[in-house]
Amino acid sequence: MRVIETVAELRAALQPSRRAGRSIGLVPTMGYLHDGHLALVTESVAACDVTVVSIFVNPTQFAENEDLSSYPRDPDRDLALCREAGADIVFLPGVDDIYPAGFQTYVEPGALAEPLCGAFRPGHFRGVATVVAKLFNMVQPDTAFFGQKDFQQVAVVRQMARDLDMRLAVVSVDTVREDDGIAMSSRNAYLDATERRRARCISRGLFAARRAFEAGERDAARLLALAREPLSEMDSVQYVELVDAATLQPVTGAVERPAAICVAGHIGNTRLIDNIGLDIEGSRTVRDAA
Ligand code: PAJ
Repeated sequence: MRVIETVAELRAALQPSRRAGRSIGLVPTMGYLHDGHLALVTESVAACDVTVVSIFVNPTQFAENEDLSSYPRDPDRDLALCREAGADIVFLPGVDDIYPAGFQTYVEPGALAEPLCGAFRPGHFRGVATVVAKLFNMVQPDTAFFGQKDFQQVAVVRQMARDLDMRLAVVSVDTVREDDGIAMSSRNAYLDATERRRARCISRGLFAARRAFEAGERDAARLLALAREPLSEMDSVQYVELVDAATLQPVTGAVERPAAICVAGHIGNTRLIDNIGLDIEGSRTVRDAA
């Protein structure tokens, strides 16, 4: 496994593989890796000849009041995990490699970036789309892997790839959870033991809603009520919404197309998000919506 820090070195390292027609997979991350990230690496290693993992805490996707400076980092451990998972290249650029002096061009996502997290994190998806577009241009992967955990992010990235004629497949991978249901997240490291226990309420509500859905409940309001009920344990709830999986717009009345229930809020000072898919049999699932 090679560890590469500059864009020029990255391009040079990938050139022989590209010339030889070997397929390239990209897994973009912000590091502090856990089994959720590693599931993406494993998928890429299985599907592609060469796997590149990028580790970059992207400043443009954090607002002023957010956790950029305290975001957890452990590059040595990350490298060991990437090696173990079979990655070929880890790209670890510095901020100046990605945003050199004079940088001024951004990718502005459209309507998919407006609801849900977009409403609470102004500029977040603009920062995500910009860095992901840059990583796509640097690596030129055949396939890029993203987690369903960040449901809106996958939708925004897919739309960007489509709108800007980026020649790659965007694959989304199911959310990896801890044994007690909590979605794995680098930010779980912020939680103390009591907060960690309280955080279970998020997945508890989502699972209750999905169980009802699987038992035939189709009323969006009733499904939402099940997801919302345990969230009284949270310190703040930013949103609980049942949205159409393709448009991310709220569903009212009956759920008739693939949908998802998405939650965001705080336990203590830690902002957590999670979601669960409500797939309708016979229609295309959330996962292969693009
Ligand atoms: P980060 O939060 O580090 O996540 C990197 C990738 O891992 C994302 O595609 C995310 O959805 C996926 N992931 C995180 N937790 C997961 C889990 N429990 N199960 C499955 N996949 C999971 O998302 C970002 O970084 C950044 O926004 C990035 C795309 C790298 C752009 O800066």
